[in-house]
Amino acid sequence: MKLPFALARRFVAAETFEETIPKIKTINESGIKVTLDLLGENVKEKTTADDTVQIYKQLLNKIHEAGLKSTISIKLTMLGMDIDQEYCKKNLFDLLELAEKLNSFVRIDMEASDYTQQTIDIFKEAFEKYGKHVGIVIQAYLHRTKKDIPELAELGADIRLCKGAYKEPESVALQDMEDIRKAFKQYAKILLEKTDYPRIATHDDELINFVKNYTKTENISKDRFEFQMLYGLREETMEQLVKDGYNARIYVPYGTMWFPYFKRRLMERKENIFFVLKTMFKK
Ligand code: FDA
Repeated sequence: MKLPFALARRFVAAETFEETIPKIKTINESGIKVTLDLLGENVKEKTTADDTVQIYKQLLNKIHEAGLKSTISIKLTMLGMDIDQEYCKKNLFDLLELAEKLNSFVRIDMEASDYTQQTIDIFKEAFEKYGKHVGIVIQAYLHRTKKDIPELAELGADIRLCKGAYKEPESVALQDMEDIRKAFKQYAKILLEKTDYPRIATHDDELINFVKNYTKTENISKDRFEFQMLYGLREETMEQLVKDGYNARIYVPYGTMWFPYFKRRLMERKENIFFVLKTMFKK
């Protein structure tokens, strides 16, 4: 059964790129940049992964032609990681060739922990070859992040720090929100000290305020990092951050394969379920 897109409208910009363009323009007009995500994950067929690479390339070209202030975010399982690691790497590099040519940027989202090592390995090779045109995401809840963050920071990688959105066992990830926040703060400090431009991805006021206060006391200027939030969440907070002189970027997902993303948003916050129920019952 196909669920109606109206359910996901709060969290997903549109089902097509054409319908997404005006939304990106509106966000850009309020001084906020975008990272665009074509929704989908865990592709099992080479033909689908090949098509995805072509669509991403068209996206990079269209973003460039339309003069949008937007990069793209991708998932390696969309580029064929479940099929073959070398094949997936080739697809990513193909995309990065174009990103480099257009002076654009590709962020590799981080997926469930089964993929962390492969994602970091592929990222490191990509970073060596394409430098500032590629970045990665690191999840504060993973135990292994203690080791990954200093290592990647030392390389000078462009890192988006988030809490982590997948259900992971206790052996792999912290479970308690206070522990996750503590870890997030510690990693944010490392990134702010050691990397050029960390991306702080959270809607959590405690963490946002921590970063604001820490950067103020350490004299780290507001243009040395950015806050990132997901489309449809905390828009006023984002606008206020921009008014206060901070850099901000919204992660804008679009596409027809929105269900897994939509489900993660519902699982992480009960208020999000209420928003959806309201949409369902609104006449
Ligand atoms: P969380 O949901 O933990 O809420 C903590 C507190 O923040 C709440 O109690 C409330 O006080 C406040 N809050 C949160 N949402 C609010 C709202 N809508 N309105 C008011 N208050 C609110 N994950 C991943 O595994 N891989 C990835 O690649 C990415 N990429 C990514 C990009 C970007 C730009 C963002 C913002 C997030 C991701 N994530 C992600 C998701 C991330 O790991 C995490 O699951 C969510 O951001 C939820 O955690 P938060 O810290 O945002 O708030």
